[in-house]
Order: sequence, then C-alpha cells, then structure tokens
Amino acid sequence: MLVAVFAGDGIGPEIMAQARRVLDALDLGLRFEEGLVGGAAYKAVGHPLPPETLDVAKRADAILFGAVGDFDCDHLERHLRPEQAILGLRKALTLFSNLRPAKVFPQLAGASALKQEVASAIDLLIVRELNGDVYFGEKGMRKTADGLREGYDVMSYNEAEVRRIAHSAFKAAQVRRGKLCSVDKANVLETSQLWRDVVIEVAAEYPDVELSHMYVDNAAMQLVRNPGQFDVIVTGNLFGDILSDQASMCVGSIGMLASASLDANGKGLYEPIHGSAPDIAGQGKANPLATILSAAMMLRYSLGMAEAADRIEGAVAKALEGGARSFDLGGTMTTQQMGDAVLAVL
Ligand code: NAI
Ligand code: MG
Repeated sequence: MLVAVFAGDGIGPEIMAQARRVLDALDLGLRFEEGLVGGAAYKAVGHPLPPETLDVAKRADAILFGAVGDFDCDHLERHLRPEQAILGLRKALTLFSNLRPAKVFPQLAGASALKQEVASAIDLLIVRELNGDVYFGEKGMRKTADGLREGYDVMSYNEAEVRRIAHSAFKAAQVRRGKLCSVDKANVLETSQLWRDVVIEVAAEYPDVELSHMYVDNAAMQLVRNPGQFDVIVTGNLFGDILSDQASMCVGSIGMLASASLDANGKGLYEPIHGSAPDIAGQGKANPLATILSAAMMLRYSLGMAEAADRIEGAVAKALEGGARSFDLGGTMTTQQMGDAVLAVL
C-alpha cells in the first residue's frame, strides 16, 4: 500500500513527523511518498499544488495531509494561496464524503464546553456531503419587482449524490457501532424529502446497520443534551458544516480532532481539522495527536487495517491517561514528547 505524505507548511512538518514515527513503529509494510503542498510548495516551485504532488496523490492508496496556510502567502492571489492545495485535491480526486469523528477522552472531559458527565459519553462520527447542496447551486444577486436587492442560493441534491454519501455513511457505521442517524429537514425541504427517501432505499443493502432519522434543529439540540445517543450521523453539506463544528467544540481542543475526505472507492485524504497554526510554528508547541489520530482513521477507512487503528487510538488514550499534555491541553510537553508518549505505549 502506498501512502502519500503531504506535510504542508506552518506546524505541518512538525506534527507529520510524529505521525510518521507512529506508523513506522507499527511496521505495517506501508510505502510512503512525500509531496510538497501549500506554502512549502509555493516557495519551492511557485504553486500550492504542483503536478508532481497531484501525481503522487492519484497513485497513492491514501493521503496523509498535515496543514497549509502560511501567513507569508497572505498577499497572494486566491489561486496561489496555500489553501488551494486542499481544495484542489478534494476536487481532483472527487472526495465528496467528509468524516469528522468527535470522541471525548475521559481524561480530557473537563476541556469540553459541556458538563463532564454529558461530554464523557461522546463518541460519534459526522459524515458530511462535500460536493453538493446550497454551496454549489445556482446563486446570484438580482432586483425584485419593487427594486429591492435580493440574494439567492439554490439548494439541490440529485439522487446519485445522496446515494453515494449514504453508502459512505452506512459503510462507516459498519466499522463502528452499527447505528446511523440521517439528519435532514424533511418536514420543510424537498431536497430533504429526496434525501430521506434515498437513504431509506440504500438502507436495504445494509441490514446490519440500524437507521434512524432526525430533523436538523432537533439534532443540534440533541448534540448538546444527549450526544452519547449518536454513533454515525449523515447529513448534507450545509447542515454538516454547522453540526461538525458544533460537535468538535463539545470535545475540547482543536489539537485532538481528526478528519477524512473519501471518494466512492474508499480512497481518502486524512488530516487534522486544525490549520497550520503559524503563531506557534517551529516552537515545538503543536499537539500532534490530531494528526496521529488521522493516521489511525486512514488505516481504518482506506487501508483495511482496523486492528492497527485500534492500537493507535488505544495508545493515544493511554498516553493521555499517563498525563501526556501539550500546551493546548494545559501542559508543557513538546510536539516530540507527545509523540514519545504515544510510542512508549505502542
Ligand atoms: P488554526 O487551526 O491554524 O489555529 C487556530 C488556533 O489553534 C491557533 O491559536 C493555533 O495556535 C491553535 N492550534 C491549531 N492547531 C494546533 C495544534 N495542533 N496544537 C496546538 N494548538 C493548535 O486556524 P487559523 O489560525 O484560523 O488559520 C491558520 C491558517 O491555517 C490559515 O491560513 C487558514 O486558512 C489555514 N487553515 C488550513 C486548514 C487545512 O490545512 N485544512 C484548516 C483550517 C485553517
Ligand atoms: Mg466549518
């Protein structure tokens, strides 16, 4: 199996180095190929996503991505900015399914915005559709008959788009606790009615997964009231954007949260949800756990190595139990020392 490793800029190289140490320690027979992305690529070759990098991404079975967003590039035109690397990869590889797990490690439940006893039950995954919905529909500005300015954005989904995200979500539920909650607004929106009908059709192929439905306003409430009830949540682009950020704040530090963006065949790009944190780059202060947990997701969802993923996630939990704390978690351990703590358990 070939893994593309794109560290990026800012804290990217520091956090990626620790994820690589963890993967190497497991001796899984993976091959790695590195590529330049973001500010690092712009500085070297004048483009945030060079063709050589895209080639590696296309050949690889999975992509492990650090972070991009170098402040030195702030003056650049939009198409040359570091963030174009991630947007370009999503587009070129048709990564339409965004997986965002939110899990509270009991040792860190105090960092959650929720009460400790509510937060400690959180172990859920949000599957967000990435390529459709109101963000990509027809949009514009016009004048009404009375001469008022009117902005509009059309929300639409076709059944093929819903079907592929539904399959992605059911498959994710199969390798978790086998429960899927589809979130929509079917009492008001036609797109949601289609969404719900198609999800029910797809469910017939996954008799081992228990399907339920929830309106999005209720889902927002339940995420705060009783988040422990959720295993996997599947939803559209707009609702997923909001609910996934809400769920991450129920967990606590941004330095702990991993994510995946998958295509129809399960190939994916794995990255921490945080950016390149230029404010702490080069100081050894970055928490590498989000990237290490992203590597675990990669093993689970793209490389069929669930057991190795369990080992990494278990080692992270044990390291935290043993008191490993980087600066964002209120401690003083460096990026490397956090990596050491995980390796010591492995
Ligand atoms: P950010 O996530 O880089 O940083 C926000 C705050 O969290 C900062 O104070 C930072 O020091 C802290 N932080 C982030 N990751 C951390 C870690 N692993 N350990 C400890 N502390 C951590 O978001 P910000 O500052 O809004 O954006 C910085 C740059 O990153 C921007 O150019 C932005 O566009 C880019 N970005 C890139 C993303 C990606 O590569 N997928 C995602 C989000 C932002
Ligand atoms: Mg968001």
